[in-house]
Amino acid sequence: MAEVATVLFPGSAIRRRVRELGRELTRDYEGRSPVLISVLKGGTVFLADLIREIPLPLRVDFMSVSSYGEASESSGVVRVVKDLDQDVGGEDVVLVEDIIDTGLTLSYLLRALREREPRSLEVCTLLDKSARRIPPLDLRYVGFDCPDRFVVGYGLDFQERYRNLADILAVEDMAGLMADPDALLPFLDQGPPELAGLSR
Ligand code: IMP
Ligand code: MG
Repeated sequence: MAEVATVLFPGSAIRRRVRELGRELTRDYEGRSPVLISVLKGGTVFLADLIREIPLPLRVDFMSVSSYGEASESSGVVRVVKDLDQDVGGEDVVLVEDIIDTGLTLSYLLRALREREPRSLEVCTLLDKSARRIPPLDLRYVGFDCPDRFVVGYGLDFQERYRNLADILAVEDMAGLMADPDALLPFLDQGPPELAGLSR
């Protein structure tokens, strides 16, 4: 029987890439104190790792949005459920995302943030599903180009599950996963490599 999912980006490759992105941001924002904004909940795992690779006096903040309606496809019509705690007017803002798919959610968020007149506004996304992009978007920092597949792990969920996977998996058999949402539990057992005694 075919696997329900396969490892697309192993935790070790993610760590390496996050470190590179951190170095790039550190160079670009030297002498400044950027505000890194994460969109709950998927972006938080990436944000937590990324900020520890940026030795600058940065700040973090969080937003939460929900899509209107029941559609599983993004419509780009979103409601802000939790707004930022701080005013970002005049600040250097970096929007940190787990994945940009159609880009409709992001383009809404960028519009909303631009109205607050930050000094600068850039996007840092771990994954870019560029094949599905609808509005043209300028993504300044991209971790990996992501194939047009459903992915889970490292913050990304399937029905709110599997955000705690160290690796990012591509789902090979969506019908199988729908029928048995526990099907990916064996991947969790492998645990973060650090805990298995491998150093980074
Ligand atoms: P967009 O508006 O289509 O770009 O929607 C982006 C959001 O959809 C992301 O922030 C994720 O929450 C979710 N999403 C898109 N693709 C995936 C995926 O492959 N796995 C898990 N969530 C995804
Ligand atoms: Mg998200």
